[in-house]
Amino acid sequence: MLKIIKVLSVSSFFICCFLIQSFGQTDATIPKLIEKNGRHTLLVDGKPFFIFGAQSHNSSAWPAMMPTVFSAIKDIYANTVELPIYWEQIEPVQGKFDFSLIDTLLQQSRKHQVHLVLLWFATWKNGSNHYMPEWMKKDAEKYPNIVGEKGGHVDSPSPNFNATLEADKKAFAAVMRYLKKADRQHTVIMVQVENEPGAWGSVRDYSSSVQELFKQQIPKELLEPSLLKQLHVADTTYTNTSWQNVFGERADEYFQAWSVAKFIEQVTAAGKAEYALPMYVNAALRNPLTNPTANNYESGGPTDNVIPIWKVAAPSIDILAPDIYEYGSEKILKVLELYNRNDNPLFVPEASFTFDKAKYLYQVLAQGGIGFAPFGVDDHHQSFSKEYILNHLTPFAQEYQALAPMMRELAAWSFEGKIKAVVEREDNGNQLVDLGNWEATVYFGGDGRANAAPIHSKPIGKLMIITLEENKFLLIGTDCHISFKPKEKYAGHDWQYNKVEEGIFENGKFKLLLIQNGDETDWGGPGFGAKPTILQATLIVR
Ligand code: DGJ
Repeated sequence: MLKIIKVLSVSSFFICCFLIQSFGQTDATIPKLIEKNGRHTLLVDGKPFFIFGAQSHNSSAWPAMMPTVFSAIKDIYANTVELPIYWEQIEPVQGKFDFSLIDTLLQQSRKHQVHLVLLWFATWKNGSNHYMPEWMKKDAEKYPNIVGEKGGHVDSPSPNFNATLEADKKAFAAVMRYLKKADRQHTVIMVQVENEPGAWGSVRDYSSSVQELFKQQIPKELLEPSLLKQLHVADTTYTNTSWQNVFGERADEYFQAWSVAKFIEQVTAAGKAEYALPMYVNAALRNPLTNPTANNYESGGPTDNVIPIWKVAAPSIDILAPDIYEYGSEKILKVLELYNRNDNPLFVPEASFTFDKAKYLYQVLAQGGIGFAPFGVDDHHQSFSKEYILNHLTPFAQEYQALAPMMRELAAWSFEGKIKAVVEREDNGNQLVDLGNWEATVYFGGDGRANAAPIHSKPIGKLMIITLEENKFLLIGTDCHISFKPKEKYAGHDWQYNKVEEGIFENGKFKLLLIQNGDETDWGGPGFGAKPTILQATLIVR
């Protein structure tokens, strides 16, 4: 069961929070995920919040790196920083904990007025055990890596050994217990449990003791007909319910997915028992279009095909989150669709820090998602050449800067389903958006007329359309034009723009800069420049 509060309305939820708080039973301001009509939001300070995030490089959460990290966070205008905490540093001696790193990250985030998402680099970091403490690494028999199909150890911890699980549970519980005390003001708004778990180099553990587990009958939760349907198991006439018999050629992978998910479920539950912040697990993706087999990707992590297994095995995990390092709009839009489910809020905790990814921020907002973050923003080994800044930092920074003053409004509109978005595809083609009584056409070509040259040489254009009133739209975008056509009850009517106001947001309020008219609206409709342009358009039907 997803740990999301189902609500009838946002207002009844707020009243409820108030009552609970008044009676002192729980803290109403604890960050929380809620769901309504299949859409989600993250409540921070009791109100919808959207993570304009940024993640550091893996080895940057050390005191010496804080100036570099936080200067990058400032440059990119993020409201939330995602930083790792390292098991090897936190529990250098078994049972002896050092939380000074957490103190540093809390203190720095507060100083720089951003929220914090902590990443628990523990049993798994990109499928390996490299962040386990030394006392575990040295005892490979007790805390083993998996054995590959042809024998020999693979550089990936086995999810099937209790000693590893118990050690991780204890350490994570200690972290969350400490955090609850150290962070009464909720600087930390979510916690990632492990990092891209699963195994590269072997589909599962083939060691002799795990072979015995694999021969057993599958857990009965996996025999639910609706689940089997989602896993594309057509023939359910078997009497022997072994992994192999039920899942055939996917048996090894599903066994591994179940084992990893069950392991992380128990770590997560141990942490939540101490302090129930929202928690998620990130996925190293597989190609979402070609249904490859598990020796082509990280096996056992929450890849799109095993989301149903993870949901059953790991009810304490609120979000299975895609890390987007893919290229191409078809693939990436498919990933967003696959991870945006009624039982799974859409959150992109990592995207490659490249100009092509910034446009997907708009899709995440439109799909009722809760946040987005490029990875590795503190590129301290790179020279900050003009070209580097243009290709990496600016595409995200200019969005976060323009949208930050309206973050709360965007989060609420996103939750209420008021946002539609389009991103430019590789063919630069026009795209239609259904707005009820209006149809919008978004042009990514030149001045908006047919066959015009692309506005930008790369497909980076994008537009969000927020329906404010029946004939009033807030339009935010870059490198495109828009035009409208009446339909439904307005079909066949004449129409014109009443006003196309261009402005900026300040403290949640639209501030007029100019009114677009004349050439600016007559030639292909209102336009959006290289920097995010914000327009408030009112249409008149005659
Ligand atoms: C995805 C991982 O989750 C990150 O920690 C990092 O290793 C990036 N890949 C690649 O740099």
